[in-house]
Amino acid sequence: MEGTNRGFATPTIKGRLRLRPNAHILRARSILITLPILTVGLAVGALLLSLVFREPAAGIGSLPDKPGIVVLIWPAYVVSAIAYAATRGFRDRALWSLALAGLVGIVLVGGGIFMFLSTTNAPAATGGTPSGSGALASPAATVGATIAAPTPGASVAAGASPGASGDIFSSGGTSSATLSNGNAAFGLDALAFLFIVLGAPLLWNLWRGISWFTAPQAKHEVLTAEHIEGEAGGLSPIVAPLTEIAAETYTEAKLGEPLLSVRGLKKHFPILGGVLRRRIGTIYAVDGVDFDVRQGEVFAVVGESGCGKTTLGRTLLQLTPPTAGHVIYDGYELGDVDPDDMRPLRRRMQIIFQDPFGSLNPRMPISDIIGEGLLAQGVTKRAERDKRVEDSLEVVGLRRDYTRRYPHEFSGGQRQRIGIARALALSPDFIVCDEPVSALDVSIQSQVLNLLLDLKRDFNLTYMFISHNLSVVEYFSDRIAVMYLGRIVELGTVNQLYRNARHPYTVALLSAIPDADPRKRRRRLVLKGDVPSPAAPPSGCRFHTRCWLYEQLGKPERCTTEDPSLRIIEGTDHQAACHFAEEVSETAVRETVATQDVIDTAAAVES
Ligand SMILES: Nc1ncnc2c1ncn2[C@@H]1O[C@H](COP(=O)(O)OP(=O)(O)OP(=O)(O)O)[C@@H](O)[C@H]1O
Ligand code: SF4
Ligand SMILES: [Mg+2]
Repeated sequence: MEGTNRGFATPTIKGRLRLRPNAHILRARSILITLPILTVGLAVGALLLSLVFREPAAGIGSLPDKPGIVVLIWPAYVVSAIAYAATRGFRDRALWSLALAGLVGIVLVGGGIFMFLSTTNAPAATGGTPSGSGALASPAATVGATIAAPTPGASVAAGASPGASGDIFSSGGTSSATLSNGNAAFGLDALAFLFIVLGAPLLWNLWRGISWFTAPQAKHEVLTAEHIEGEAGGLSPIVAPLTEIAAETYTEAKLGEPLLSVRGLKKHFPILGGVLRRRIGTIYAVDGVDFDVRQGEVFAVVGESGCGKTTLGRTLLQLTPPTAGHVIYDGYELGDVDPDDMRPLRRRMQIIFQDPFGSLNPRMPISDIIGEGLLAQGVTKRAERDKRVEDSLEVVGLRRDYTRRYPHEFSGGQRQRIGIARALALSPDFIVCDEPVSALDVSIQSQVLNLLLDLKRDFNLTYMFISHNLSVVEYFSDRIAVMYLGRIVELGTVNQLYRNARHPYTVALLSAIPDADPRKRRRRLVLKGDVPSPAAPPSGCRFHTRCWLYEQLGKPERCTTEDPSLRIIEGTDHQAACHFAEEVSETAVRETVATQDVIDTAAAVES
């Protein structure tokens, strides 16, 4: 995939982060986590009830006013502790955690079945048969007994003496005792049902997900989050003076070295249809892209609406899981990483969203919108968080006291600045700027662009700048990738692309840039037809349905049968994905102008 002739070196990988467990193990983990939560809930609930029902109440029984049930459910504490320990070991693929989780599953299912059988045998016990009542002398039955027992002493008697007064299944002879016994049996049945409902899926998921513990990749090097946190230097303050911040090193990549390497990245979305919402097609939003973003550069991604720019940005930040491919950030491969390992890296990679209003929660004040990222990164002290939020607002030219305002109380430009402040609050070193100025008017656009450039200089940032505005890109970027239908079709420096474009699509895009001087005559290359659907990309070269060079060359078969990959055209930086890139020249464009859909706009206006 990464042949050297295409200009991409194999990225250096320092180590792998811990992988996210497979779906079955994640499900098993959620079930295990509910056990401690349920146990604590039961204990607290029982404690509160015992305060309310101090005396035995007819029909419903009473709870002991001493520790009572809170102590009697000690087996639940033990099982919960084992369940929690198992979840911790899952991430490291420890076999002992699988054994513990299996034990918990067996205890739940076994306990549930046992309790069901106990209550099924209960009528025999009620009739005074000692053998039937013997089955009730279990911890679970004791819990049920506790619920029904009129006194704390009787609850103990439930296990020891089936015939004693207050025994949940004893034939006490009074109607309230019968009712009470019925309630206890119902309680036990409910508990048994809960045990089985939790235990059976737990065992099933462990069985299905067992490959998580046995697969060969289980042996890969394990890097802890603390390791990365240490390397990244922890959370660094974003307070003035800016020079101090700029002096801090956030990454190991030196200026000009790849900070982010993307290889073969794909993101496909399913098209669902029918009553059962079955998959009836696929949107190939990003379909195999390779590029490097170098430390300290502005890497622009341009292309028509719907070509996959936003999806690319979101996928490489792992905001949407990729379908295939690799993303290596500062030496760490990010694919499907355990959330705990990903958190420190998330701080270093931020995004400024395309829609400044839609990306800000209208119900939250600015302090919370910006502060929630800090909270997620462990800045738990409110005062410290507020200070960071105010600092980041100040950095983007907003007032420090705006923190209590809500998003609707700001103008569009201010909201875009809030989006930038949110990204900056975590002191990142890489920011995906997704069309940060497209929603703004021209004067605010230049303000925000200049602000981004200042911040880049002051904080030593690296940008991936997504845009469809080629004039802005020329002003703002160092290198540019041109995207068409989920693929990169040309990649190069600003000079290479603007002076010597080698892909027919890039040539057409550049010819569409409006000139600031309306008196200047300008030739415009109009692409034929609409952009094809990303759900059914054309065969061979995806651009052949609209390519002017394909027409000019007499529709060579190669264009419709062979998918061109990016290859070096000039130097090491300039790559294009066209079989006939060498044919693209001034002359070719001029000849096409004479014969194809090219309009001399100024002349057209004059005539
Ligand atoms: N969550 C999703 N589910 C299904 N399809 C999606 C999803 N997100 C994006 N797409 C599709 O993927 C394709 C690429 O979308 P994307 O938002 O990346 O385009 P874009 O290049 O950012 O466009 P624009 O310039 O208009 O922002 C589109 O056809 C879009 O409909
Ligand atoms: S490969 Fe053929 S169709 Fe594709 S851009 Fe080049 S000339 Fe056009
Ligand atoms: Mg977009």
